[in-house]
Amino acid sequence: MLKNIRNDFPLLSSTNRAKPLVYLDSAATTQKPRQVIDAVSSFYESNNANVHRGIYQLSEQATKSYENVRKSVADFIGTADPRSIIFTSGTTESINLVAYAWGRKNLKPRDEILITEMEHHSNIVPWQLTTRETGANLRYIPILKNGTLDLSDPEKYFTKKTKLVSIIHQSNVFGTINPVKQIIDYAKSVGAITIVDAAQSVPHANINVEELGCDFLAFSGHKMLAPTGIGVLYGKTKILEEMIPFLGGGEMISSVSMESATWNEIPYKFEAGTPKIAQVIGLGAAIEYLNKIGMDDVQKHGQDLLKYALISLSNIPELTIYGDSTNRGAVISFNVDNVHPHDLAQFLDQDGIAVRAGHHCAQPIMTKLGLSSTTRASFYLYNTKKEIDALCESIVKTKNIFSI
Ligand SMILES: Cc1ncc(COP(=O)(O)O)c(C=O)c1O
Repeated sequence: MLKNIRNDFPLLSSTNRAKPLVYLDSAATTQKPRQVIDAVSSFYESNNANVHRGIYQLSEQATKSYENVRKSVADFIGTADPRSIIFTSGTTESINLVAYAWGRKNLKPRDEILITEMEHHSNIVPWQLTTRETGANLRYIPILKNGTLDLSDPEKYFTKKTKLVSIIHQSNVFGTINPVKQIIDYAKSVGAITIVDAAQSVPHANINVEELGCDFLAFSGHKMLAPTGIGVLYGKTKILEEMIPFLGGGEMISSVSMESATWNEIPYKFEAGTPKIAQVIGLGAAIEYLNKIGMDDVQKHGQDLLKYALISLSNIPELTIYGDSTNRGAVISFNVDNVHPHDLAQFLDQDGIAVRAGHHCAQPIMTKLGLSSTTRASFYLYNTKKEIDALCESIVKTKNIFSI
C-alpha cells in the first residue's frame, strides 16, 4: 500500500450505512485528497477573481495560477506546448468538441468514423450525432468475448474512407488496455485523425501524447483526484488552429462587430465564457499530488490490487468475471449466478461497500455479452487488500442469502 495515503482523504475515514466506508467505485469518480480540497477553498478565500479580464492584482494572480495549471497538464501528458491543452468540463465535452469543431467541418457523406464496440456512450453518441449532420458513416471494430478488440483484419476497418478513429484507451467495463499505439499507426497509414479517450488511463499510468502520436486525447479531472466539472482536451496545435469554434461567447473572440466575429488564438478559441477557474486550480493540485507519489507507483499499486482482486474473486464459486485481457487496469466487472447486480450492490452497500452496478454507460458491450448489467469494482491509489477481502466476504454472504 502507498504509505499514509488514506489519511489525506477525509471521506475515506467516514462510514457508509454505519459501517466503515469501502470505496470501490473510483472508475466512476475518485475521492479527493485534503490537498485538492484545500487548494479549491484557498482559491476562493484568498485569490478569487475572473481570469484574463481584470487589470488588478487579484485577477492577474488568478490568471497566473490558471495558466500555470495548463503548463502542469501539458507536462503531465508529455507535450511541450501548453497551447494544445483546452480546459473542458470533462471527457464527454472534450469528445463533443472534436465531433463538432473538427467533424462538422471536415466530414462528408460516405466518409467513415471508426470507433470500437468497447466505447463509453460519450465516445459513441457524439459520433452518431455527427453522422446525422454530415452523412458520414459510423463503423465499429468488434470486441471478442474475452473483452479485447478483434484486430485480426485491420484492412477491413482502416480504409481510404476512414477519416477519423476514436478509441477508448482503457475499458471502464473490462479494464482492457487497448493497443492504442498500434491502432493510431493503422489510422495514420490511411490518413485518419485519431482521438484517444483516456478517461480511465490518464489517472492510472504515465501517458505521453508525443509517444502515442495521437491527434487528440480526452480525459476528466474527477477521475484523477480533481474536482468534478473539469476535463482536458489535448489537440495538436496545427489541427486546433484549423478547427471551427465549438461554443461562442466571451474570451473565444478576437473582435466582434454587429455582423460577425473573428476568433481568439488557441487554446482560448475553445474556452468561451468564464472558465472553470476553481476546478482548474483543483486539477493543478491533483496533478501535483499524483506527481509527488509518482505515476509509476500509482500504476504499480493499481496492478497489485488488480492481481489480488482477480485471484480472490476467481475463488468465489458461481462468480463470472468479464474480460481476461493480459494487459488491463484496476477495474473488474463480474456477476454472481442468481443474484441481480443491483441486488448485489445493495447488499454490499449494507456492509459499507460502494461498487457500481448497471450498464456502465456502455450498452453495446452489454448487448454483445447478452447481459443487461454487471457489478463493477474499481481500485485506486488509496484502496487496500483488506478492502478487497471485505468485498469478497460480503459477496459470499450475499450469495448464501440468495441461495436459501
Ligand atoms: C472510458 C470513459 N470515457 C468517457 C467517460 C465520460 O467521462 P465524463 O463523464 O467525466 O465526461 C467515462 C466516464 O465514466 C469513461 O469511463
